[in-house]
Amino acid sequence: MKRTKVKNLISAKATGQEICVKGWVRTRRGSKNVSFISLNDGSTINNIQIVAEGDHFNDEIIKRITTGAAISVIGILVESKGSGQTVEIMAASIEILGDSLVDEYPLQPKKHSLEFLRENGHLRFRTNTFSAVFRVRHALTFAVHKFFNDKGFFNIHSPIITSADAEGAGEMFQVTNLNLNNIPLNEENVDYTKDFFGKKTHLTVSGQLESELGALGLGQVYTFGPTFRAENSNTSRHLSEFWMIEPEIAFADLENNMDLAEEFLKYCIQYCINNCIDDLRFLNERLINEEKNLKKEEKSDMGLLERLRFIIENDFERLTYKEAINILKNSKPNKKKKFNYLIEGFGCDLQSEHERYLVEKKFKKPVIITDYPKGIKAFYMKQNDDGETVRAMDILFPLIGEIIGGSQREENLEKLSKRMEEMNVSKKELWWYLETRKFGTCIHSGFGLGFERLIMFVTGMKNIRDVIPFPRTPHNVEF
Ligand code: 4AD
Ligand code: MG
Repeated sequence: MKRTKVKNLISAKATGQEICVKGWVRTRRGSKNVSFISLNDGSTINNIQIVAEGDHFNDEIIKRITTGAAISVIGILVESKGSGQTVEIMAASIEILGDSLVDEYPLQPKKHSLEFLRENGHLRFRTNTFSAVFRVRHALTFAVHKFFNDKGFFNIHSPIITSADAEGAGEMFQVTNLNLNNIPLNEENVDYTKDFFGKKTHLTVSGQLESELGALGLGQVYTFGPTFRAENSNTSRHLSEFWMIEPEIAFADLENNMDLAEEFLKYCIQYCINNCIDDLRFLNERLINEEKNLKKEEKSDMGLLERLRFIIENDFERLTYKEAINILKNSKPNKKKKFNYLIEGFGCDLQSEHERYLVEKKFKKPVIITDYPKGIKAFYMKQNDDGETVRAMDILFPLIGEIIGGSQREENLEKLSKRMEEMNVSKKELWWYLETRKFGTCIHSGFGLGFERLIMFVTGMKNIRDVIPFPRTPHNVEF
């Protein structure tokens, strides 16, 4: 008999039809005469209740229906007499597909800490919290593709192994198949001509440079792939392997770029509200519970759904770096020396404490900061006429900080070339990137959205390790 997904049952009208469900037991309770089994099959946050009346089933079977066991149930869908569910299944037959060793199964029907569940990453898909997060992650993936497809963008796959350092920051994982115990040398240095690709290679930090090549022929493209950064930052917002969406648009300036980014973020959030409301309601409750014991000032001032709607309904605040610095310089925490890094003036990088002040205290909504000093941004950004700033934009979100980084690109060959020399970016390595400025160059812009940061925002999860199925962080590569 074909299995029916629980998701489709919850909304079904009970008409006495016979159905088959398969899933994992969350709990079983009851008496000698009747057992109530709560079953989840991952299709929805909701469990289906199975009623197994004693005289139909022998004790041996019932005893094996323990938390975590996989079972198959055939029965009649009926209106529920109990509260908490509209339908339930009167079981006619139950088959144990896979027993779960009661004494060893780590997930008990009680609250587990997120740390504990991270250590049990192989099983955390079976919890309410993580199944909700990963269903939302799926919905967001779908929303990303739908948004760009509907706008006529083309998805391109940028390479994962590369010899270029797209951000010029040098935070790369090397890829080699040289024997590390016997490295071929060429005088003092490693002889990379003997390596697999005949030169030094690493995992990509960004697909942007290739995305630009695509845009300068296909017009509007986007990448959506894994990126890798060997920065040793053990924070709740950094992963060594994360997913990034990088659209790139020809004939578009920074204004167009910001408009697209704002529309894109709002679209993705709206898509989740439309398609994942059960999961979002659950995550909202989870957040309230989690924050129960926090002090008032540490609690979120909005519920999860309220916050999501707030983002959709309000324009993002746009201001320049210089304006931001002025605000920060004159802010209370700066004057009272409450910031860990005091704002001196033009040129300093914004730390997350500054970003949070602007977003959460000053404007109380997402903020887009533009025109950063060139010294703290990548070589490829369009240089402003003032000679000191570039056409960059960072989008800052409440609780998350930077969620998007982007810019208009320097399309002038001479200026780009000079900037690469100043910043020690290899022109020899990036000859192909430079050539696009030689053959039919044009104004173009793009940005990168950190996918996990968006998922954190939508789900209310506070640690980035809890929104990617298998997090990679320094000293952590389990599963
Ligand atoms: O600001 P970033 O470094 O920009 C780029 O890589 C550009 N090439 C994007 C472009 O213009 N096409 O990274 C973009 C976003 C950040 O805003 C942040 O959300 C996320 O990627 N991000 C990370 N997310 C998780 N872990 C990390 N270690 C991250 N580093 C950046
Ligand atoms: Mg950035």
